[in-house]
Amino acid sequence: MTPAIISSRKGNHGAANRALLGVIAISALFMPFAARAQSVASATSPNGTVKVDITIDGDGRVAYAVTRKGKPVLAPSKLGFLFTDTVKIDRRLALAGQETRDFDETWTQPWGEWKNIRNNYRELKIHLKETTTLARGFTVAFRLYDDGVGFRYEFPDQPNLAQANIAEELTEFAFANDGTAWWKPAFLWNREEYLYNKTPLSAVANADTPVTIKFGDGTHVALHEAALVDYSGMAVARTEGNTLRAALHPSAGEPKVQKKGAWNTPWRTLIIADDASGIYHSHLMLNLNEPNKLGDVSWIKPGKFAGVWWNMIKGEWSWARGPKHGATNVNVKRYIDFAAENKIPHVLVEGWNIGWDGDWFGNGHDMDFAQPTEDFDVDMLVAYGKKKGVRLIGHHETGGAATHYENQFDKAFKFAADHNYMVVKTGYVTDAGQMEREEADGRKYREWHQSQWMVNHQLRVLEAAAKYKIGIDSHEPVKGTGLHRTYPNWVAREGMRGMEYNAWGGKNPPEHEANVVFTRMLEGPMDFTPGILSLKGERDSNILSTIAKQLALYVVIYSPVQMVADTPENYAKYPEPMKFIRDVPTDWEETRVLNGEIGDFVTIARKERGGKNWYIGAVGDEEARTVNFNLDFLTPGKKYTAEIYRDGDDADYRTEKRHSIAIERKTLVSTDALTMRIAPGGGFAIRLVEDK
Ligand code: NOJ
Ligand code: CA
Repeated sequence: MTPAIISSRKGNHGAANRALLGVIAISALFMPFAARAQSVASATSPNGTVKVDITIDGDGRVAYAVTRKGKPVLAPSKLGFLFTDTVKIDRRLALAGQETRDFDETWTQPWGEWKNIRNNYRELKIHLKETTTLARGFTVAFRLYDDGVGFRYEFPDQPNLAQANIAEELTEFAFANDGTAWWKPAFLWNREEYLYNKTPLSAVANADTPVTIKFGDGTHVALHEAALVDYSGMAVARTEGNTLRAALHPSAGEPKVQKKGAWNTPWRTLIIADDASGIYHSHLMLNLNEPNKLGDVSWIKPGKFAGVWWNMIKGEWSWARGPKHGATNVNVKRYIDFAAENKIPHVLVEGWNIGWDGDWFGNGHDMDFAQPTEDFDVDMLVAYGKKKGVRLIGHHETGGAATHYENQFDKAFKFAADHNYMVVKTGYVTDAGQMEREEADGRKYREWHQSQWMVNHQLRVLEAAAKYKIGIDSHEPVKGTGLHRTYPNWVAREGMRGMEYNAWGGKNPPEHEANVVFTRMLEGPMDFTPGILSLKGERDSNILSTIAKQLALYVVIYSPVQMVADTPENYAKYPEPMKFIRDVPTDWEETRVLNGEIGDFVTIARKERGGKNWYIGAVGDEEARTVNFNLDFLTPGKKYTAEIYRDGDDADYRTEKRHSIAIERKTLVSTDALTMRIAPGGGFAIRLVEDK
């Protein structure tokens, strides 16, 4: 790690500004509307691509605007807060000072899509103060990257805002142009598990972030947030035209966010690039998070996992005890055997503990995370796995009873550690706004999954787990904001419609993953649970995919812990495609998005961490198409044996030919290009092995 503060400039423009403000304030008295805004500060990213301009109008309203390559991205967009108990902050503000600072470092991820991450930005801080008797002050810190900008509010401890009870954050994102937006609805009952809408930006309603927008000139922008800590998750709501405004998740019976003393918001982030691939390549979100707080995390070893799971999701086995109980000694042993045969280091077991009998959806009060059912002999199974090099992954389904879970943290994670688990999968299945929080004094609340309290709950889970060297894969989580940099034991999460929807009615459409890559995946690793080679959900229903696409998902959808989600019996029917799943790693040195259009297709190449081999995955949508790409990422002068798994010429997700696959070998070098066909609902996967 080589942090380097290159330069730092400070200036107190307070005096000049107070004079200026006097003039503006007087003229404002005589004018019904605010005078023209004055430019008070600006800064550009290290290579000058991205620029932010700060203005203050005659009413003392502060706005920021963003341009890229000289073209407007955000028109002047206002800043401010509404409070539940005091006058809002959004006008009668004056500049009290400003400073800039340059920063450049390269840091290493313990696991990830890239090993080394460069963090190079210019920071502009503007210090603002109210000109009223309250005289409250705050700073807005902008970090300008060549591929976007992040900014946050920083409030010092101050007498007139000792406790901030935030009713709403008034931060605007006033896009300069209309565009096409991909977004999923916020504040609805099914949390983050909605399909993406594709609409004009000027037709967005309430949207969860990331929202990704493509403009007429091809520029792509992804709006999101970084380092969501002790604050509620930010959705956005369109106010008028192309303007979105922050819409914070509510807190039950309380202000949306409560802060004391000195505090700051998460970073509000805009990734800006020439094309869809460009936004995927940005490290801005990770860079805006604090470095690893956990110290040595070498105990986190990326890898795949099988699981006593798909048969439950399909309704053939149950989580509850009884004749259909899935987590039995016999079944778990069979999954351990399967994992060992396929070099899969973990087996997830769900429904292994007391508490699932009866209705557990939104009702987790009986869950005991240290008490196995009588037909799950945990010590015997752990010992059996140990002989075969396979560890178990425990599952903690809270049914939304978050406090009930917190009360068990110690015994739950001790149990996990005592049984040699590396990962625990958590779950919060209950409708939005139905998370159960109980305070020590008996007060009860119903929380949103992304409320301030739940955001903090998820961090308490991580900290409790880290004490026992346990990683967390959270389902029905709070969205990803890059905190896996700070807490590398946050190895994966759901937070989107994953494979499970393909078990049920209303399956994911073929374009789903090509949407997810450029939206949800910007949040970080996803436990998508790929690899359903049977292409069958409940009651033998067909998944809208070819078999080659299932293989491609191992490259396209990133997670350091990646599920091999179908059943051992089903995998036994597809030994040749199974080879790809056995070979593909889950930890990468480098990643390149070779091409892609949101919701249409994407091709991603990744180099194995600590190895020489490359893997390529591509997924399409419902249409057949051909994609071309160069292999110039390969080492020049080296030969590679390519193992190609592509859609058969007759493959089609709509017909019985969805299983048609062609597996070929070729020798390729860095000067080669490939032209590959993707069938309707299809994809391809390639392993490139460097010759000795
Ligand atoms: C929903 C999760 O996404 C799924 O993976 C899990 O099996 C069920 N909840 C039960 O906890
Ligand atoms: Ca789920």
